Amino acid sequence: MKTKIISVAGEKGGVGKTTLNIMLATNLFHTYGKKVVLLDVDDPQFSIFKKRQRELDLIGENGEDSLPIYPIIRVTVRTIKDKILQHYGKVDYIIIDFPGSLSLEMVQGLMFVEHIFIPFDHDELEIDSTFNFYRTLKKNFLDNGDRVLRSVHLFFNKYREVQKNKFANLKGDVLTAGLPFMQHVVKEKTIYREQYRSTLHPIPEQMETGPRDIRNFFEEVLKLSSN
Ligand SMILES: Nc1ncnc2c1ncn2[C@@H]1O[C@H](COP(=O)(O)OP(=O)(O)O)[C@@H](O)[C@H]1O
Ligand SMILES: [Mg+2]
Repeated sequence: MKTKIISVAGEKGGVGKTTLNIMLATNLFHTYGKKVVLLDVDDPQFSIFKKRQRELDLIGENGEDSLPIYPIIRVTVRTIKDKILQHYGKVDYIIIDFPGSLSLEMVQGLMFVEHIFIPFDHDELEIDSTFNFYRTLKKNFLDNGDRVLRSVHLFFNKYREVQKNKFANLKGDVLTAGLPFMQHVVKEKTIYREQYRSTLHPIPEQMETGPRDIRNFFEEVLKLSSN
C-alpha cells in the first residue's frame, strides 16, 4: 500500500489545524474509504486523543459500540519516527497534528510529512509570517535532495462569504508573494467546531454538497496528495 503522510500545519495557533486534521481523518476514513491513522503530536495536551476518549465514553453509555474507528495515537518527538514506520505501507493516510509553534516536535516531525496544507485566515499581517514559514519549509525540505516533502499548499480557513472581496484581495497579495493557493476554501461555520468535528462520525451524506462546502476541500486534499 502506498502511504501518504499529510498534515494541516503551520506555525500559528488558532487557525484551524487541529479542527481540519480531525475532519480530514474522520471523513477520509468513513466517506472516502481510506485507511487512516491520526498521530497527535500535541504533547503534553494530546487534545485529539482525549477528545476521542470522551466521544467513546459517550457512545459507550448509549450502547453503540460496534462502530468502526481509525486509530488516534499519541506521539512525541522521540516516538514519531517509529510510529510512522510502524504504519507506513499499512494505511493509505498518516495524518499528523502538530502543535502551533515552531517547537522541536514541529521541526523534527515536519521532516516526515509529504504534503503540507497551511490554513490562512483573513489577516493581512499573516502574509509575512506565513511567507517566512513557507520559505523555511522550501529551503529546508522542498529544495533538499533527500526530501520527503513533496508539496505545500495554502488555503483560507474560516472563510466568510460576506467578505468575499477582502479574501479575493488577500489571495491576490499572497499569490503575488509566490505562495501556492488551493482552489477551495473552508468556510467559518459553527457546525465545524461542533457536530462535524467528530473523531467518530463523518459528515452526513446529504450535507455539505454545495460549491463552497467542505467536501470540495477534502477532495482537493485527496487530489493534491495523490501526486
Ligand atoms: N472553519 C471553521 N469554522 C468555525 N470555527 C473554526 C473553524 N476552524 C477552526 N475553528 C475554531 O477555531 C479555533 C481554533 O481551531 P484549532 O483547530 O484548535 O486551531 P489550531 O489547531 O490551529 O490551534 C477553535 O475554537 C475551532 O473550533
Ligand atoms: Mg491544534
